[in-house]
Amino acid sequence: MKKIVVLVSGRGSNMTALLDACSEQRWNARIEAVISDRPHSPACDRARSRGVRLEVVDANGFASRQAFNQSLGDTLACLQPDLVVLAGFMRILPTELVEQYPLRMLNIHPSLLPAFPGLHTHRRALDSGARIHGATVHYVSPELDAGPIIAQAALAIQDVDTESTLAARVLSAEHHILPLAVKWHLDGRLQVDGARVRLDSPAAAETQSMWFA
Ligand code: GRF
Repeated sequence: MKKIVVLVSGRGSNMTALLDACSEQRWNARIEAVISDRPHSPACDRARSRGVRLEVVDANGFASRQAFNQSLGDTLACLQPDLVVLAGFMRILPTELVEQYPLRMLNIHPSLLPAFPGLHTHRRALDSGARIHGATVHYVSPELDAGPIIAQAALAIQDVDTESTLAARVLSAEHHILPLAVKWHLDGRLQVDGARVRLDSPAAAETQSMWFA
């Protein structure tokens, strides 16, 4: 059975979507552990309540960023994950750590990359006048919010949208595409060719480009 380790920092709703999909769809994989860089994040409570092994690598508990990165890398290495999922993990990982998990580390980002990498994506999308926004699941490369794109969910920006209404709709799309992308990866159905990722033998309803209301 493959081992997934999920890294979180905050609310943990994407982590929960993964836990739900893993158990409801009876994946041939398990969430081996959740690692949080914040000891009191809601994600920690959610992981505990689900009985998932929780490791806290407190970002404020180290003298330097390097010491934190070292501890995070050691914690991950001990868990021997087949796949690492960054599900709202709000730290930039060092290149050396990313390179230890080539095409074995996924990230969910709340924009249609390559548009709006980084923070405050919903506000930036609204301010830009874009009519379409969304979310992206991608393999992680050392560059921030970059790497081969596995799946994207797009939705229309409405005139009445505020940052919070847009964020809520994007989040609900995230909860759909993240488990889907993880499952495709676990099933060995993703072929990576440079920046492009192709899904093997997609069924009629399966697509890497999804449209949400
Ligand atoms: C999500 O929007 C994710 O895309 C971004 O941070 C947010 C985390 O939300 N990277 P949650 O902790 O999964 O609820």
